[in-house]
Order: sequence, then C-alpha cells, then structure tokens
Amino acid sequence: MTQPIAHFNGKLLPLDQISISPLDRGFIFGDGVYEVIPVYNGAPLRAREHFERLQRSMDEIALTNPHTVDEWMKLTAELLRHHKGDQAVYIQVTRGAPDKREHVIPKGLQPTVFMMSNPMTTPSREAIENGVACVTSRDFRWEKCHVKSTSLLGNVLARQISADVGATETILFRDGFLTEASSSNVFAVKNGVVAAPPRDNLILMGITYDLVMQLARDGALKLDVRKVTEAEVRSADEIWLSSSTKEVLAVTTLDGKPVGGGKPGPLFKRMHALYQEHKARLARSTVAA
Ligand SMILES: Cc1ncc(COP(=O)(O)O)c(C=O)c1O
Repeated sequence: MTQPIAHFNGKLLPLDQISISPLDRGFIFGDGVYEVIPVYNGAPLRAREHFERLQRSMDEIALTNPHTVDEWMKLTAELLRHHKGDQAVYIQVTRGAPDKREHVIPKGLQPTVFMMSNPMTTPSREAIENGVACVTSRDFRWEKCHVKSTSLLGNVLARQISADVGATETILFRDGFLTEASSSNVFAVKNGVVAAPPRDNLILMGITYDLVMQLARDGALKLDVRKVTEAEVRSADEIWLSSSTKEVLAVTTLDGKPVGGGKPGPLFKRMHALYQEHKARLARSTVAA
C-alpha cells in the first residue's frame, strides 16, 4: 500500500520511512507540543492562529520554535500538495533527542518536527440533527491545560470514560466549575445567553472557541464569558461542543439525561448555520485568490 507523505525534520517522506529516536523527549516524557489544523478542500481554516497558538505553547515550555509562522504556513502548503480534499493537518514539535534520559531540560537540543495529514471527517448529518451524548467527570488533569502539550494521558483517560459508554465526549468539572471536554471546548446556553468559561490556564484556548465567539458577536447572540458552575451546565437549555474537527456540535444528553428538550436547540441551529456560512466564505475566497 502506498504510504501517505509526511514531513519529518525538513523532509517530505512516506510515513513508514520516518523513524524517531527512542530517547526523543517526546517519546520519553511527552515533552512536546502540537496543533491540529482543519483543511477544507485545500483551504486551511485559521492556520495562522493555530501557528500563533503553537508559538504560545512553545513559549510556555521554553522550547525554541524552529520556524516562523510564515515558514510553518509554507510547510503546511507543501504537505497539502500530497493530500487532497478535507484534511486534518497534525503538527508536532518535541524538545528533541538527547543522548541520555534525564528530567532536566538539556541545552542546545534540535527540536524534532513531525507533520502529517489525514482525511478529516466532520460530524455526520445525524450528529448535527440529533446532537450527541456526553458524560461528565472530575477534571483530573494538570494546571497547564492552556498548553497544547503532547502529554495527553489525562485527556486520553478522560475521553475513555465516554468511549466506554458509547458517548462522544467527557465534559469536565474542576472544583464545581466547567472547564472543557477531553478534546473540545464547551458552551452552556440558558435563557438565550451563551456562557463560556474564561481563557485561563484550566482550558485550551480553542481556535474554534474563538471562531464561535466571533460568529456569536457578528450574529448578535448574547455572550457571557465567565466561570460556569456545574449546576448551570446540568440545567442548561443547550450545551455545545467546539473543536477544529467537531466544528460545533449540540450535546443532547448529559449523563443519560436530556439537555433542554433533548434536541439541538434554536441557538445551536443558528450557530451551526453561521459556522457553515463562514466555511463557505473561506471556500469562495480561496477560489478567488
Ligand atoms: C483539550 C482540548 N480543548 C479544546 C480543544 C479545541 O481546540 P480547537 O478548537 O483549537 O481544535 C481541543 C482540540 O483538540 C482540545 O484537545
């Protein structure tokens, strides 16, 4: 079978020809950061914002970025020449491979850069029309959730809680407040107001979260960015998930109980339409460019 083309430390190679040192700190410690960029028929959505977040993640862990945003954009375009249609581009930068395992961060290491692209499956019509099931858990992750780190064991274990019961996501609460879900941001709607947790160290600042906020403002939806209690989530009229690959999705059952009327609500339908219009504009501007 022909192997998909991926990027490794400056070279484009078939995926099966890439090998990484077992001493790479990404493998040994999860010492690295990553991004996932949605691409619609060749047009990346908010790529610059993703690379700016990658820079912020690197700053947080004192990892020197091997590329400027413009270089990253160029590398992405080169990779995408080998991948057509809707794609999710994955970018990972680790601290590199020293000659021994030691916690202390070695100086002068060359970061390891890996990029791949996979066909992106956006939510099915069924999921959009009926919404999805979610369960809840205590947020047992660390206190640097704003870093998009490859150390994802907390998120993996959180996601498994929902996977084990056939649900789409695990919505997390820390000290009685909503944070996010295992790989999505979360919004709670009550009485026509969309509430979202603030940008702090307890959530990943989703690029889609920002886009949803922008679309809500442009579409004159009422927004309230503040700490949201667990009780508010459990009594919300609507709950939404957002992420680069889920786009915006309605949660219609939480821990087996219906959310609001148990169907995607009116504000979700409005936001979903705004999101799809935004994508259509992106496609038109890319064709025109
Ligand atoms: C923990 C977490 N929160 C939120 C998100 C959503 O981020 P984005 O909208 O940038 O995809 C993700 C995406 O993977 C995530 O892993």
